[in-house]
Amino acid sequence: MNRGEAGAGRRPLRVGVVGCGAISKRYFAAAYDSFEVVACADLDRGRAEAAAEAHGLVALEVEELLADPTIDVILNLTIPAAHAPVSRAALEAGHHVYQEKPLALGRAEAADLLATASRTGRLLGSAPDTFLGAGLQLCRHLIDSGAIGEPVAASAAFLCHGHESWHPDPGFYYRKGGGPLLDMGPYYLTALVSLLGPVAAVDSMARTTFAERVVTSSPRAGERIAVEVPTHVAAVLELVAGPLVTLVTSFDVWPPRYATFEIYGTEGTLALPDPNTFGGPVRLLDPGGNWSDVSLDGRPLQQRGVGLADLAVSAMSGRLPRAGGELAHHVLDVMLGVLDSAESGRRVALQSRAERPAPVPVGLAEGEIDP
Ligand SMILES: NC(=O)c1ccc[n+]([C@@H]2O[C@H](COP(=O)([O-])OP(=O)(O)OC[C@H]3O[C@@H](n4cnc5c(N)ncnc54)[C@H](O)[C@@H]3O)[C@@H](O)[C@H]2O)c1
Repeated sequence: MNRGEAGAGRRPLRVGVVGCGAISKRYFAAAYDSFEVVACADLDRGRAEAAAEAHGLVALEVEELLADPTIDVILNLTIPAAHAPVSRAALEAGHHVYQEKPLALGRAEAADLLATASRTGRLLGSAPDTFLGAGLQLCRHLIDSGAIGEPVAASAAFLCHGHESWHPDPGFYYRKGGGPLLDMGPYYLTALVSLLGPVAAVDSMARTTFAERVVTSSPRAGERIAVEVPTHVAAVLELVAGPLVTLVTSFDVWPPRYATFEIYGTEGTLALPDPNTFGGPVRLLDPGGNWSDVSLDGRPLQQRGVGLADLAVSAMSGRLPRAGGELAHHVLDVMLGVLDSAESGRRVALQSRAERPAPVPVGLAEGEIDP
């Protein structure tokens, strides 16, 4: 991963958005001093124009936006199949890139993205950035300070009945690059790697319960989607540091009574917040069997866009972005390893590794990013 250009100035980086769909509104609303969104583009020109009108931006064609030398960063919010091609073109055009998850559809595409960032000297970052929020940063502090002793195991489950009940255009969730693991797994896995370190090997089983899905959300209600990916995936991960993680992701079942995301240590248990959020609650169980809520301690909550804000600061200061390409690459490698294991019936040893990103210092104001 490249470092940014130390001393490159302190003006907010100028961001151009590619992909003005459902999630883009969250990024348009993000308030961080290190970047400003100035332009947008979409294959669907009408969507780009509507976003430009709503947020005071310039709507451009994708090629025009990528060719614009006044843009510092491309924020790639396209669907999974377009992540790597759009990010690669943006890096080649000389822009830094921050994109939505997953990093790419396959290992070769992902490796090529990292190599392109390295060759062009541009920064590459990827969602999720929720691990930079107050809740998961507090968990990082608790684990690093020994609050649960030595981590032994963790368990995580994301269970729902699919996104076709609410997303306006849910087809991509059932094509390559979608499915519950590649869609929701990044939140759990990025949090776990940032808390406990990288994954060494995986084993799993998976199934596809429904061969097609019927959309119930507007405007595509009644349309049928052929399912091309496993939609219930049960995995065991062995971390390099030793803990074993059970991870289940599903689009096939109705939501459970209680969400599961816990880390078990020799001295206690840590109940983590929903990793698709930035806040709490964070709860600790001590060896006496007592649960307590741990205060977020005045840590900045953060919001979607903090990973991009952090990357923009990196571009100015020369430090590594926390939600960087190597972390996203490792998380993708873990997920692809899980799918490979389910298909082959064999344990898969992973080739990639990622460092735990630096913790966010305590005491920052809301919206402030450390240099
Ligand atoms: N919707 C959510 O709640 C949500 C939450 C977190 C992350 N995400 C992620 O964000 C990404 C986008 O999701 P979404 O829900 O906004 O999808 P969406 O389908 O609503 O929007 C995607 C947009 O990208 C455009 N697009 C597709 N290919 C393109 C290309 N090659 N060039 C330019 N534009 C292109 C589409 O026209 C569309 O407007 C996905 O990777 C998804 O996993 C979505």
